[in-house]
Parts: sequence; C-alpha cells; structure tokens
Amino acid sequence: MSGDLRRTASPHVQAWGAGSATSPEARLRRRLPTLDDVERRARSRIPRFAFDFLEGGTGGDLNMIRNRQALDTVELIPRYGTPESVSTEVELFGVRCAAPIGISPVGVDGIIWPGATKILAAAAAQARIPYIAGTLATAAIEHVAELAGPYAWFQLYGLPANDHAVTFDLIRRAGAAGVRVLAATLDAPVRSKRPRDLRNGLVIPFRPTAKTLFEMASSPAWLLALGKEGAPAFRNMERYVKRPATLARTAGFVQSQIKGTFSWDTVKRMRNAWSGALIVKGVLHPADAEEAIAVGVDGVLVSNHGGRQLDAAPAAIDVLPAIAASVGTRATLLFDSGIRSGLDAARAIALGARGTFAGRAFLLGLGALGDRGAAYVAGLLKEELETAMGQLGAPSLDALTTLTRRHGSAFDFT
Ligand SMILES: Cc1cc2nc3c(=O)[nH]c(=O)nc-3n(C[C@H](O)[C@H](O)[C@H](O)COP(=O)(O)O)c2cc1C
Repeated sequence: MSGDLRRTASPHVQAWGAGSATSPEARLRRRLPTLDDVERRARSRIPRFAFDFLEGGTGGDLNMIRNRQALDTVELIPRYGTPESVSTEVELFGVRCAAPIGISPVGVDGIIWPGATKILAAAAAQARIPYIAGTLATAAIEHVAELAGPYAWFQLYGLPANDHAVTFDLIRRAGAAGVRVLAATLDAPVRSKRPRDLRNGLVIPFRPTAKTLFEMASSPAWLLALGKEGAPAFRNMERYVKRPATLARTAGFVQSQIKGTFSWDTVKRMRNAWSGALIVKGVLHPADAEEAIAVGVDGVLVSNHGGRQLDAAPAAIDVLPAIAASVGTRATLLFDSGIRSGLDAARAIALGARGTFAGRAFLLGLGALGDRGAAYVAGLLKEELETAMGQLGAPSLDALTTLTRRHGSAFDFT
C-alpha cells in the first residue's frame, strides 16, 4: 500500500487499499481511518483508570489542549508541478528510518496495555522507526535492544544517589546492549499533579480498589493480555534492589530515587561517558538548547512532555521555530507533544524538526488492536505523511521546510 503511494502521489492515494479492498488490512483502514477512530476503540478496551493515565495532562489539561490547538493552526501552502514521487525516509544519527515519526517513551506503559514495551520495540523494527524505550519501561533495555535492533533508543531519568551510580550503570548497559542514542529527559524536575490519576487512586505500586477491579473486569482483551504478560514491572530497576526484586521493592526504589531532570554538569558527564548520540528531551527555550549544545549534545528534542508537566507551558510547536532558528545545523532537532497525524508531523518538519515522535498515539494503537496496534499506527501516520507531502508538492522532508507557512501562535523570544 505504501509502495502504491510512493509511486503515484495522485488523487488515487485517497483510496487506501485500492486494489486489495477486501484484505483484512484494507478493512481495518476503513474501520479505523484516523487516530480519533483508534482512540475510540482503545477507550472501549482499556480499563478507565489506565486510559486516564495515558490521556491525562497536568492540572486542567490546558497545556495538552494548547498543543493540539496550536498544531491545528499551522497552515502550509501547497506547490504544484513538483516531482510525483514522495519519500518519507530520513537518516537519524546514522540509521536510515522509513519515516520521521518515532515512538516517545511512555513510563509504566504495561498498565495501559500489558506487554506494551515489547510490542512497541518489535513494531519499531518492523516499521523501521525509532523507539525511545523509557527508564520506566516494562521490559529491560537489553530486551528492547534485541527486539528493536538499530531502532532502539534509550530514555534516561536520573538516579542521583551515590553520585549517579545507577544512572551511569544504565548508560553502560544501554551501550553494551547496542543502543546508539541516549535521550536524557530534562522536563520532569518535580512530580506533576495529574488530577485524573489522583481521583482514580492510581498509585504505584498498584493497589486495586473495587472501582479499578470493576474496570479491569470490564476489559476482557486487556485482562487477557495481563494474563499472558503478568503484572507490569520496572524491569530496568530490578537488579538495583534487594532480592527478591518484588514489584513493591522496585516501585519503592523508583519512588524514592528517580529524578526527572539533570544539571548541565551531569549532562556533560554523560557526554563523556557515552560514545553514541546524546540528546536532551523536553527543551522549550532556545537558551536551554544553547546550553545543551555547549555541553556537546547531538540532538535536542523539543517537547513539553505531552502537556503532563506544566499547564502554563507553551505549546511545543509554538517554540519550535525559534529553537530551530537558534540551533541551525549544530544539532539534530526533534519534536513531540501533540502529534496525532502524518499531517502534524509534516507541520513540525516544515517548522524545523528533522524527526518527530508521538507517545499517546502508539499506545492508543495497542489499546485498540493489541499486538498489531503499534505497527498499525505507524503505517497510518506514515501514509498520512505521504499523502500530505504529495498534496503539498514536497517530494522529500527537506522540501517541506521550504514551504510557505503561517503560524500565528509562534512564540516570540525577543
Ligand atoms: C502515560 C505517559 C507516560 C510518559 N512517561 C514518560 C517517561 O517515562 N519519560 C519521558 O521522558 N517522557 C514520558 N512521557 C512523555 C512522552 O515521552 C512524550 O513526550 C509525550 O507523550 C508526547 O506527547 P503526545 O503523547 O501528545 O505524543 C510520558 C507520556 C505519557 C502520555
């Protein structure tokens, strides 16, 4: 299907699955043509407390809503008479990817869909897109690297005790597992207040209540996956706690040890300890991008954590152009927060990102379709990007950056 799109960026691209209209894949495309449809199906299959955990923002969800609204207002003017073929391929840190839409780290993803980390890692390899596995993922980085191969990236939170002994051991392990890209998250310096989780009594370690038990019992596909995978666990952390590494012990360790940011000094130490590519995740100010470049990072991921940390923060897309202007070619600019379609990815790339990522979109895929859900969403977003590029007259990602655009809510740092 993708091949068809590539050959002919023509009106026919709208007929997804043309030529194989009765295949299961084509039927699925008709049932779930957009991420909104995927989301509706996921909502009906994931227990409510877990769905709220995935979807919720901080405070009144204002930052999350702002991400969406701001992306919607980015206008791009198509050009015609350009080459007909479209390629979404991009090289990120030496690895050729099929599309510039990777998977953002989602901690404790096994609550949302049991087995999520493994499914995401395998889907990344299948779709040839990067997957940033989290420190708090529910499979260990060694396992992720086996499944995702060159597409495995590793997201790091800090464990500052003993001069960051565990932090640097995680870095060592990622390197030994063959991971090439390390992403240090900066933007969660405090535990943010997420009212939905508080109302749902979602605490770690998980203690079921009558309400959550009822919600689980009403989600048979999720329960089946839980039966297969067992309770989600902090696999990366198990070797750092006293044996036996029960969930209660690892969860207690996580609660007391993890810090969601790093000082620039520590990022510099990471730079020295890590020979692969190093990026910082969660940058919203050009001055922080400058600091990052000064300590030697290779990439900057512009993000507001999907609106989960600070309700007063700007939409991530609104600060992207200024950061792109300031960073130039000195680092690879990446973007997440609010991506729900291939067109959104085209918007972010047009505004200066080399690659984009999505968190919720892929987990919604798992909720909707289980094991095949992440690959489905990857295909959906890629096709939408191809269609957008075809319509815009942009045969390559570079061509997207030359389009005339209007972005009224762009943040002015002057
Ligand atoms: C449920 C959930 C858990 C997350 N956990 C982490 C995490 O452990 N580490 C991290 O750097 N970002 C985490 N994020 C932020 C994502 O990596 C990403 O920045 C965000 O989801 C992007 O916004 P989007 O969901 O609108 O695509 C989490 C996001 C969600 C929704």
